[in-house]
Amino acid sequence: MALGNLLDLIGNTPLARVDFGSPATVYAKLEYLNPSGSVKDRSARYMVEQAEKQGLLKTGGTIIDASSGNHGVALAMIGAMKGYKVIITVSEKISQEKLQTIQAYGAQTVMCPATQFIEDPDSYHSVARHLAQETPNSFMPNQYFNTMNADGHYHSLGAEVWRQTEGRITHFFAGVGTGGTISGTAKYLKERNPEIKVIGIDAANSLRATNGNPKPYKIEGIGIDFTSPVLNYDVIDEIIAVSDEHGLGMLPKLARNWGLLGGPSSGAVAYAVQQYAKQLSTDAMAVMIFGDSGRAYLSKGFYGEPRHMRAVSHVMRDTSHTIEL
Ligand SMILES: Cc1ncc(COP(=O)(O)O)c(C=O)c1O
Repeated sequence: MALGNLLDLIGNTPLARVDFGSPATVYAKLEYLNPSGSVKDRSARYMVEQAEKQGLLKTGGTIIDASSGNHGVALAMIGAMKGYKVIITVSEKISQEKLQTIQAYGAQTVMCPATQFIEDPDSYHSVARHLAQETPNSFMPNQYFNTMNADGHYHSLGAEVWRQTEGRITHFFAGVGTGGTISGTAKYLKERNPEIKVIGIDAANSLRATNGNPKPYKIEGIGIDFTSPVLNYDVIDEIIAVSDEHGLGMLPKLARNWGLLGGPSSGAVAYAVQQYAKQLSTDAMAVMIFGDSGRAYLSKGFYGEPRHMRAVSHVMRDTSHTIEL
């Protein structure tokens, strides 16, 4: 049993075997079982603790950053535990659940328009930078440009995947947003075994996937929309772009056929892995990252038609049939 303070309990998430009909062994790494509910607990903790060590974050300080949601949730939890104020800038694309979770931890949120380019002065990243400049005794982890984001995953997720698979992993799949998860994890894995194939999942309408002509997309958390020092292409073998239709379409299937309630990035990753795994052999072992849970997106209606009955005295009614008790 895991014992320790909340931050000590980050990581050691389970690998769930998923039968995608492939000859290979496929595991989903259930990052939604981290204390604040996502893979971002690992990098947020690392960046905050490094800042403390370097004297960049001091008692009474304020943590400010831009987030598609989960990094903000993680910072809000860590700030609550360690006694820092937290301000998170978010874009209009964020789910109500993630927004309200950040607020529930006592952090302040700032809503920004969903711009297509991160350099736009109205983007959540630009607004966070501005706020950090204006706020005394503040620290901006700057997840989109701070390579410590990837370092956090190198030490945490990379080492863990290697240990849990006893070095037998042959393929690693992860969604790419800042690139921290894939870059840090892949660096660790490739140092142990350069033969391991690393596959990143991008959004089909991202800047990269559209060769500089991005269009809006619904999947939250992933999408390569700018050139980031965090994203290390040297350790990535292939990038697969997944459309909203395919990624979100996978969500009800994952929940209803495999009991896996993943968020949109998990849907995109699982879609890519299901296709890819068809060509893998029996001795292959694939690990795919499920970055967060579908519980953070239920209000978005991604999970298919609800099946609901209303109890009226001893009769249950729904639109299609009546059950006499
Ligand atoms: C659910 C989810 N999956 C994947 C990612 C992508 O991770 P990274 O930013 O490390 O590339 C994120 C990033 O916010 C996320 O929230």
